[in-house]
Amino acid sequence: MQIIKAKYLVRAVALLALAFSLTSAYDPSPLQDFCVAVKNPASAVFVNGKFWNDPKLATANDFFFSGLNVPRNTSNPLGSNVTAVNVDNLAGLNTLGISLAHIDFAPYGLNPPHTHPRGTEFIIVLEGTLYVGFVMSNGDGNRLFTKTLYPGDVLVFPIGLIHFQFNVGNTNAVAFAGLSSQNPGVITIAKAIFGSDPKINPDVLAKAFQVDKNLVGYLQKQFWSDNN
Ligand SMILES: *[C@@H]1O[C@H](CO)[C@@H](O)[C@H](O)[C@H]1NC(C)=O
Ligand SMILES: *[C@@H]1O[C@H](CO)[C@@H](O)[C@H](O)[C@H]1NC(C)=O
Repeated sequence: MQIIKAKYLVRAVALLALAFSLTSAYDPSPLQDFCVAVKNPASAVFVNGKFWNDPKLATANDFFFSGLNVPRNTSNPLGSNVTAVNVDNLAGLNTLGISLAHIDFAPYGLNPPHTHPRGTEFIIVLEGTLYVGFVMSNGDGNRLFTKTLYPGDVLVFPIGLIHFQFNVGNTNAVAFAGLSSQNPGVITIAKAIFGSDPKINPDVLAKAFQVDKNLVGYLQKQFWSDNN
């Protein structure tokens, strides 16, 4: 009797864990046509992290964004500029599980190693030449996959994996990216590690990176600018 009960308990816990992971880690399939996010939560329903508007009040503009043809300013230390179009600036994306980004690169501009914790991404190059890559998990030996992309080429960066894009040409480059989340998130590795607020204890980083503590101090003193 006790053993059978324990078995059911284990199953129930496993099911709960599954349900939790489905609702918290992935954008769920929508159960209605749309639910445009609202800024003012008064008299709205809460779903998937955003309050949503009465569908009767929705207009075409809730699903509209413009200006992605305008080149962004890439005069920053990285030489790149990412314009994300996600649920924060396109409210109609709420619960739909997609978003996009427009990326401008100056010559030799870099979109530095980063990950999107909630989204798989594919990138398509419109102009220029990008050297791009991603790294697999530790269990897979941190294998590196790279490709040089020319206009019309597409590469996929699987969810969560560290990836980068580098303009290896001496002209500007332009790319668009599609992501499998309304809010894929971004963690820029160097900035997150050395530019965290507050700072990570330098002893931790000296040991993790197996370098002198002075070098860690130097890196932590840099201004870690971002490109988005
Ligand atoms: C990206 O470009 C926009 C418009 O050109 C500019 O306002 C913004 O500061 C730029 N962002 C970065 C990080 O350089
Ligand atoms: C681009 O940004 C730089 C640095 O902020 C600024 O000096 C420059 O005037 C900007 N260029 C344009 C075209 O806005």
